[in-house]
Amino acid sequence: MNLGLKNKNALITGGSQGIGLAIAKALAEEGCNVAIGARGRERLEQAAADLSKLGVKAVPVSVDFMTEDGCRSFVDNAVAALGGCDILVNNVGGTIPGNLATFTAEKWHEIVDINLMSYVYTTKFAVPHLKKSKAGRILNVSGVSGRMLSPGAYSTTLTNAAVIGFTKLTANDLAPFNVLVNSLAPGTVNTESWGPRAERMATIRGTTVDQVRNALAGMSLLNRLAEPEEMGWIAAFLVSEKNSYMTGTTVESGGGRDKVPGLS
Ligand SMILES: NC(=O)c1ccc[n+]([C@@H]2O[C@H](COP(=O)([O-])OP(=O)(O)OC[C@H]3O[C@@H](n4cnc5c(N)ncnc54)[C@H](OP(=O)(O)O)[C@@H]3O)[C@@H](O)[C@H]2O)c1
Repeated sequence: MNLGLKNKNALITGGSQGIGLAIAKALAEEGCNVAIGARGRERLEQAAADLSKLGVKAVPVSVDFMTEDGCRSFVDNAVAALGGCDILVNNVGGTIPGNLATFTAEKWHEIVDINLMSYVYTTKFAVPHLKKSKAGRILNVSGVSGRMLSPGAYSTTLTNAAVIGFTKLTANDLAPFNVLVNSLAPGTVNTESWGPRAERMATIRGTTVDQVRNALAGMSLLNRLAEPEEMGWIAAFLVSEKNSYMTGTTVESGGGRDKVPGLS
């Protein structure tokens, strides 16, 4: 299927590794130009260089999405370099170690700023550009914890649920402009950041890293973690013109995690 992404311009937050980079790659493979935002310059520039080998414009934008100014700067620089914005993928963020008893007020602010407010601000600055596109699309990467119990996942559950709500609100506001807004909710994806996370979980539970990974895999019907590129393929469809009638929706991509007895 030709997704009709050729020569479109996409902005991806947190695009230097993991799910964000996999989404950027899936879009670039369809001929879509991409701007990727993250803090670490070296990895960001390497990722952009690799993406540009696919024959598209790939622009690295080094920013910190923890602040409103960082989000504005990402959109301004990316749009200036690409010449417009047809697609925004809000993806930056992740798990911050801790729980209800240990998180300080400062940590909670950090969690909300990166996992939720970065989506809100980046969307705010991208909307005027998306309205100029004939088929604007926003994809908010959330997570299954926003929908179902994921024990102990305080730093992502609250913000994922909020991102799903934000997706519905903005889908409503932007429908008159043919800007479609959806959310992708992964289960456990085999990204680099799972390395240290699995080690922490193993220490807390007194098990091995392999046992942690096997337990996570067992939470899906497919009995394995997802690979990042599998999220990229779903994302590419959701932000394409071939997705012309889904908006305000959250697509769960947890390998059937919600179907495993005892977890939902
Ligand atoms: N992996 C999973 O199992 C999983 C499951 C469900 C949902 N998700 C969600 O999917 C998204 C991506 O997860 P991932 O595992 O792919 O993450 P990841 O591998 O840790 O990558 C995070 C990306 O965001 C950038 N980043 C982090 N903090 C930033 C900041 N303050 N400012 C600018 N850039 C920043 C990182 O680069 P720098 O550090 O260089 O800035 C990197 O490019 C997150 O929203 C996460 O909650 C992940």
